[in-house]
Amino acid sequence: MEEMLNGFLFAWLVTLSLATIAVAQDDQSGFISIDCGIPAGSNYTDRITGLSYTSDVGYVSGGVSNSISLIYQSNSPERLFLTVTSFPLGTKNCYTLTPAQGIFGKYLIRASFLYGDYDGTGQLPNFDLYIGENYWDTVTISNASIPIRKEIIYTPSTDYITVCLVKTDTTTPFISALELRPLNITIYPTLSKSLELYARLNFGTLTNQYIRYNYDAYDRIWMPFLWDTKAIINTTQDVLENTYRVPSAIMSTAVTPDPLTATNESVSFYWTANNITERYYIYMHFAEVVEVPVTQIREFNIYINDNLFYGPMSPNYLSTTTVYTVSPGYGVERYDIVINKTAISTLPPLLNAVEIYREI
Ligand SMILES: *[C@@H]1O[C@H](CO)[C@@H](O)[C@H](O)[C@H]1NC(C)=O
Ligand SMILES: *[C@@H]1O[C@H](CO)[C@@H](O)[C@H](O)[C@H]1NC(C)=O
Ligand SMILES: *[C@@H]1O[C@H](CO)[C@@H](O)[C@H](O)[C@H]1NC(C)=O
Ligand SMILES: *[C@@H]1O[C@H](CO)[C@@H](O)[C@H](O)[C@H]1NC(C)=O
Ligand SMILES: *[C@@H]1O[C@H](CO)[C@@H](O)[C@H](O)[C@H]1NC(C)=O
Ligand SMILES: *[C@@H]1O[C@H](CO)[C@@H](O)[C@H](O)[C@H]1NC(C)=O
Repeated sequence: MEEMLNGFLFAWLVTLSLATIAVAQDDQSGFISIDCGIPAGSNYTDRITGLSYTSDVGYVSGGVSNSISLIYQSNSPERLFLTVTSFPLGTKNCYTLTPAQGIFGKYLIRASFLYGDYDGTGQLPNFDLYIGENYWDTVTISNASIPIRKEIIYTPSTDYITVCLVKTDTTTPFISALELRPLNITIYPTLSKSLELYARLNFGTLTNQYIRYNYDAYDRIWMPFLWDTKAIINTTQDVLENTYRVPSAIMSTAVTPDPLTATNESVSFYWTANNITERYYIYMHFAEVVEVPVTQIREFNIYINDNLFYGPMSPNYLSTTTVYTVSPGYGVERYDIVINKTAISTLPPLLNAVEIYREI
């Protein structure tokens, strides 16, 4: 399939690891962690993540606190899903976040929802989410026990940020948690003000668990991606972070074509757009995890829809390189990423992690 990609090509940048290991600043300074629906003025530290959550009192008005119903509590969801704040009154209810860095910052904002039949009606809610004056996404609950997370990377134009729940039918908007994390302003450069998360995948996972804070200093949630036809290679050593700060727990594993089952020697994947007007950005994180003998070389090219995007590259041993788009891809239904070894390469390509975002 030959498709023309507008704007996506020839616009790449590479971020290599810093030469020295930055002093880990994995504290929660600048984090806003709100567990909606817990008693006014209360707070707690999550046992698993170590994150400190506070109630939403003072961030929003007009909400009603509720607990999810007992049968859903018995599924032992994460603690922040046990309570919700719902908004039976008014069409639009907004949380106001005032991050310390104000308009000089770039933020990851995540809103989480687990319905859990908190109102005992069993009626699955459907409503819209806005950031500032702009439509962000629609929250459609299709299963009361499945959590939904919406996440954006946002550069505000005011020193406060509003996240609003907007009623669109007879059902009542609600929210389980709202989290804000300051990012380094230099990462995820974009032509727009906000990027909505489409996928953030950890390739080559050994544990099949998701990873977030405090492995990830920015508290991104990395989902494990199981890939039957790929082999996993890994290291027990630390992989140096670059400014994207993808944690070593993610970068120390990678996928590579399985020498036993591989019909070709490429790593490839694709995604499809719901609408060809959607504009996508991709971030690919690479690090060599095996000590390549001097007689060998691992070198590859990265193609997007059959066009050379970046390469040839040889990932650095135990050090992260991020290859990413600086302008979005759009105008096609399907995005095919193919990572092929070059003619001189004696080893197949590898890939440690990928993030895909959509402009909104
Ligand atoms: C958490 O609650 C305790 C006890 O009510 C209070 O002293 C403390 O200031 C609270 N911490 C935060 C961050 O709100
Ligand atoms: C909701 O999700 C749970 C857990 O994945 C599943 O067991 C259940 O069958 C689902 N319910 C419906 C109505 O689809
Ligand atoms: C953000 O990244 C830049 C570029 O790598 C770096 O120089 C700067 O120190 C970083 N800022 C913070 C606050 O970490
Ligand atoms: C890969 O991970 C496994 C399981 O943690 C470990 O036993 C093995 O030593 C690792 N491989 C390398 C090359 O470090
Ligand atoms: C795609 O998006 C455009 C612009 O938002 C809209 O006009 C069009 O109806 C959408 N097409 C489909 C198939 O949803
Ligand atoms: C990548 O390699 C595979 C097999 O090695 C080949 O079929 C495919 O055409 C190559 N793709 C590109 C874009 O070169």
